[in-house]
Amino acid sequence: MENLVIRHAQLTDATQLCNAERETAKTPGLLVSRPGEFNTAAFERKILALKDDGLYLVVEWNDQIVGHALLEPMGLEAFKHVMSLTIVVHPDYVGQGIGHVLMTRLLQWAGDRPGLVKVELRVREVNRRARHLYLKFGFVEEGRLEKRIRLPDGSLIADITMAWFAPEQS
Ligand SMILES: CC(C)(COP(=O)(O)OP(=O)(O)OC[C@H]1O[C@@H](n2cnc3c(N)ncnc32)[C@H](O)[C@@H]1OP(=O)(O)O)[C@@H](O)C(=O)NCCC(=O)NCCS
Repeated sequence: MENLVIRHAQLTDATQLCNAERETAKTPGLLVSRPGEFNTAAFERKILALKDDGLYLVVEWNDQIVGHALLEPMGLEAFKHVMSLTIVVHPDYVGQGIGHVLMTRLLQWAGDRPGLVKVELRVREVNRRARHLYLKFGFVEEGRLEKRIRLPDGSLIADITMAWFAPEQS
C-alpha cells in the first residue's frame, strides 16, 4: 500500500479506534475482549497516558485510519525496562502489509529508547497471521498459557507469550 501516513494518536481518534477494535473482536481468537467490552473513554485514557510515557501510533490511508499500535509501560519500577505491545490493523485492511509497517516503526522507537530492554506481548494460539508477523520481527515464544481464553463457542484456547529484546546499546 502506498501513501500510508503514520502519526501519533490524538484524543479525537478514540471513537474510531474503539469501533475498529469492537469490529475486530467479532472474529473470535484475535483479541481477548469481546465486542461489548470496549468503550471510548478507555481509549481516551490510554491515548493521554501514552503521550507522556509510551507510544500510540495510528496509520492512515486516504485520510482513513486503517490501523493502530501501541507500546505501553507496565507501571512498576521493576518493570521499567519492559513495554507491552498491542497492534490492530482494522478489518478490511489486514493482509496488505500495514502490520509490517507498524511493527517496523514500533521497534525502531523501542530500539532507540534508552533503558528499554524488552517488549512483551500475548497472542492467541489460533492467530497464525499475528504469530507469523511477530516471529518475522524477531519475537521469540517465551511461554504458553494453556486454556487461558474462552471463545464464545465455549472452547478454551491457549495464549502464547512472546518477547523481543532490544539490541545492546553502546
Ligand atoms: C495481526 C496483524 C497485526 C497483522 O497485520 P497485517 O497488516 O494483517 O499483516 P501483514 O500484511 O503486514 O503481514 C502478514 C504476514 O502474515 C502472513 N500470513 C497471513 N495469513 C497467515 C496465516 N494464516 N498463517 C501464517 N502467516 C500468515 C502473510 O503472508 C504476511 O507474511 P509475509 O510478510 O512474510 O508474507 C493484523 O492482521 C491484525 O491486526 N489482525 C486483527 C487483530 C489482531 O489479531 N491483532 C493482534 C493480536 S495479538
